[in-house]
Amino acid sequence: MIHLNGVHFSYEGREVLSGIDLDIASGEFVALIGPNGAGKSTFSKLLNGLNKPTQGTVTVAGLDTKKARTSALARKVGFLFQNPDRQLCRSTVRDELLFGLELCLTDKADIQARLDKTLADFHLDPALNPLTASRGERQRVALASLMALTPQLLILDEPTTGLDWRECMHTMELVTALNRQGATVFMVSHDMEVVRDFAQRVLVLNKGRLAADGTPHEVLRRTELLSDAALLPPQIMQLSLSLGANYDDIDTCEEMTESLIRRRLEK
Ligand SMILES: Nc1ncnc2c1ncn2[C@@H]1O[C@H](COP(=O)(O)OP(=O)(O)O)[C@@H](O)[C@H]1O
Ligand SMILES: [Mg+2]
Repeated sequence: MIHLNGVHFSYEGREVLSGIDLDIASGEFVALIGPNGAGKSTFSKLLNGLNKPTQGTVTVAGLDTKKARTSALARKVGFLFQNPDRQLCRSTVRDELLFGLELCLTDKADIQARLDKTLADFHLDPALNPLTASRGERQRVALASLMALTPQLLILDEPTTGLDWRECMHTMELVTALNRQGATVFMVSHDMEVVRDFAQRVLVLNKGRLAADGTPHEVLRRTELLSDAALLPPQIMQLSLSLGANYDDIDTCEEMTESLIRRRLEK
């Protein structure tokens, strides 16, 4: 689904990405983490053709982003900006959702069915004005307008910023449902708990390069590597690592609770 070959990217001569090779297969759920300013947003914009590599090639869904039209890419790739306000342009949720649907589809019955399903899935009031809604609601409307189009690749730049815990879980469950239907998900996040709970593969971007690529279990307990990237493992992993032997394989609160109860029963 995504192939990067020797990719470099610079803004006005200042290099942000310095030689990246990466393959992501169709259906994967990949998280990209790294310090502020590492180039995560820059990287994700390479995947929808908004940024073109200054060197190397980026192929997404079979299209070379340097040669393909942005509109051809947009039909396959849904992109949630770090700031959702950049993609809201209508005065009601209903019009906002219809805007994308009518741009990409022609079948009226299909458009109506997708509108109804998306409003229901996201618990959205069609009359709500997205521009005056809370930050969490605006984020949800922006995401809903992308998901209504069931993209092959969904790129999310910090999708849970500004959401409370319930909104965060709800959003991530909807993203996971789209992923289970076969969509590839590429998510930038600084929330290590969300990365651990939802991603299948984690990439660490630091100093212009991919510093790690593995499962959350492998990558998120590499404390030195994370610390070099100004990141910390999820708290339960930190606890499990500092407890050491017998506990150092534990990733979640549930596993920790189970392990503690089991040990008490064994005494
Ligand atoms: N449009 C731009 N023009 C020039 N420099 C930019 C632009 N966007 C981002 N940068 C710079 O590129 C670097 C990476 O930014 P960004 O991709 O936003 O990082 P991240 O998303 O990891 O925080 C930063 O130093 C940032 O200041
Ligand atoms: Mg960013």
